[in-house]
Amino acid sequence: MDRFVVHGGRPLEGTLTAMSAKNAVLPILAACLLTPEECVIENVPMLEDVGTMLRLLESMGAGVSRSGRTVRVRAGEEPCCEAHYDIVRKMRASYYVLGPLVGRLGHARVSLPGGCAIGARPVDLHLKGIEALGAEVSIDHGYIDARARRVRGATVTLEGPNGPSVGATANTMMAACLAKGETVIRGAACEPEVADLAGFLERMGAAIEGAGTPTVRVKGVSRLRGCRYRPIPDRIEVGTVAVAAAMTKGKVEIRNCRPGHLGAVLEMLEQGGVEVKTRGRSMVVSGRGRPKAANVSTAPYPGFPTDLQAQFTALLSLGRGTSVVTESIFESRFMHAMELNRMGANIEVNGNVAVVHGVSRLRPAQVMASDLRASAALVLAGLAARGRTEVLRIYHLDRGYERLEEKLGRLGARIERVRG
Ligand code: UD1
Repeated sequence: MDRFVVHGGRPLEGTLTAMSAKNAVLPILAACLLTPEECVIENVPMLEDVGTMLRLLESMGAGVSRSGRTVRVRAGEEPCCEAHYDIVRKMRASYYVLGPLVGRLGHARVSLPGGCAIGARPVDLHLKGIEALGAEVSIDHGYIDARARRVRGATVTLEGPNGPSVGATANTMMAACLAKGETVIRGAACEPEVADLAGFLERMGAAIEGAGTPTVRVKGVSRLRGCRYRPIPDRIEVGTVAVAAAMTKGKVEIRNCRPGHLGAVLEMLEQGGVEVKTRGRSMVVSGRGRPKAANVSTAPYPGFPTDLQAQFTALLSLGRGTSVVTESIFESRFMHAMELNRMGANIEVNGNVAVVHGVSRLRPAQVMASDLRASAALVLAGLAARGRTEVLRIYHLDRGYERLEEKLGRLGARIERVRG
């Protein structure tokens, strides 16, 4: 398993261009199953998760090709309707093929994804969505089997105990595009990636209103066509680099970002004493000494994203004073706290709350990454700690960040990838 050796203590300086968002690209690639025609997706980052989604589509009979950052998918007339465990177990987001398959073919067999390091992550809301559209769902041998002669429009509320579900909203929206009649999704997730998926579906010929708000209306059409699309930039990558600039007391310009998608994040950076200047689609982040303590609570969009919680916990571990970080979306998403403590941080975790007593500096150490965003937090801590930090198990990081060591390297970071 690859690991990173981070030689920390150098401020990040320079300019970086954000890639398209993983969490927009994955459902958009799955949505290509909704048409037999070719779809062309631009500015696709080279991530493990993108590779997994492309392999999944290929295993279902789709023609897939890639040239640089442009990906072409042609699902053809009769894609296979089964998503096998061998691929689904590598990436939960494989469940995004459920909605398109049920919507277009009236049958999907998708392996249950199972748990993951950040909690149980149930799929009940995904099933609720497609059942409301008339699919009969059964679970056998670890597979979800969903059948419907033709999906039909319905009204469904998708809010769960922790708020709306991004994945269930996307799946239901995709299935509803080819349904007979109108579907109304209430309690829909408002994340920009959901709105971007709707933008792609509309380009394919779907009729969707309200995506990006809690009520989404989809008028079913009989057929969708191929199209060309460029997904939105990755607000989580942008937020991660912004925290890296702050933690190393550097100054980084991030181009091709949408500051409007980062409202709660920019507010927290500013509360932490980090200077952020936005101009159109770019922003400049400057770290100015030790951050101030601040209280962060994750929430569905437009709240503070859970996918930046670990990185902010790392930032606040260097804060002046005590910060409280509350994780409201996923249970067990504080695995990074113990690793940060091994680097000299002082974080007490109690259930879904972390009390972060700021320290004046972090120390290098050997640490273990537990999930995608936790891994990023450890790399950032390594950049801030003067000396040699080793981050083990970075395969998590490769799932969601494109060659992070090279990107940060262009900003002056010294990070070596050690293979093996
Ligand atoms: C997506 C993102 C992930 C992000 C998360 C929350 C992708 C590929 N992943 O994950 O990076 O952290 O949104 O912003 O886009 N829930 C249920 N029942 C369900 C589904 C979800 O109770 O059927 C719960 C979850 O356990 C969680 C909450 O709803 O507590 C939100 O999860 P959800 O929005 O579905 O996350 P994902 O779509 O899996």
